[in-house]
Amino acid sequence: MAIDIRYFKLNTGAQIPSLGLGTYKAQGGVVGDTITTAVKIGYRHFDCATLYGNEKEIGSALKKVFDDGVVKREDLWITSKLWCTDHLPGDVPKALDRTLQDLQLDFLDLYLIHWPVSMKKGSPGNPEDLTQPDIPSTWKAMEALYDSGKARAIGVCNFSSKKLGDLLEIARVPPAVNQVECHLHWQQINLHAFCKSKGIHLTGYGPLGSASKKHILFENPIANMVAQELGKTPAQVALRWGLQMGHSILPKSTNEGRLKENFDIFEWCIPEDLLAKLSEIEQLQKVSTYLSMRVTNAWSRY
Ligand code: A2P
Repeated sequence: MAIDIRYFKLNTGAQIPSLGLGTYKAQGGVVGDTITTAVKIGYRHFDCATLYGNEKEIGSALKKVFDDGVVKREDLWITSKLWCTDHLPGDVPKALDRTLQDLQLDFLDLYLIHWPVSMKKGSPGNPEDLTQPDIPSTWKAMEALYDSGKARAIGVCNFSSKKLGDLLEIARVPPAVNQVECHLHWQQINLHAFCKSKGIHLTGYGPLGSASKKHILFENPIANMVAQELGKTPAQVALRWGLQMGHSILPKSTNEGRLKENFDIFEWCIPEDLLAKLSEIEQLQKVSTYLSMRVTNAWSRY
């Protein structure tokens, strides 16, 4: 197996950098410096979303790294996501334009439907505000953005195999990516196999188990045994596992030391026998963040 897994090829032909920086919960006042530091460390992929409320600050930081000649636009991969209140076909291009304006970019490398649920315009996220989703019409609007070149690839997040199958039946442009929660305690084996069979790349968010489960993951005896054998940290093992499974991964950190630690996963590998041990790690429930819990509970109505 190749050790240096820096990119995965999408069904568009584009190469997505395998390690991206997650920006969910990267606070205002901090996230801009984090982007600059991450670019200097070598990060080339940034995962953003309207929901995260920090795209303006990220945009200013990106402009500065471009203006200062640290990297060029074409060196970076920038993803963002369409929020649930903007699923109506007429709202989709406006939402992308707002994101592009905030990020100070002309195009995104990847634009994703954030959740397969829709909400009333302006909703702060109350379950009562969920509306019947019409993914086919939202997807058609996403395809138009792909045609326009403003989104060089399009995809989805948080889609089950069933929902992906439904989407593939009507899609003219198949989704390039399904971004879902994926980590050692939630390995997504079946969903990944389905995505692979359809040529859809799986990106894992929360690859460290996210803030709420990272301690469980870091204290896991198998992850620790593997880390000790390889002279790495449990976080590095969790991330490297993702790469070797064929996922791109989006660890979030705003700490320079941890940004460096999380980037140091390309020049070594987990041997097959230890990889097999990691597959035995107990599968826990998905991380139930405030929003995803509310959305998924209500979403089961549809
Ligand atoms: P911080 O930003 O202070 O580094 P995930 O990407 O799975 O959602 O996890 C993100 C959480 O894990 C954040 O709380 C982040 O905090 C923390 N984190 C990121 N990298 C590491 C690491 N290498 N070791 C320990 N904690 C980490």
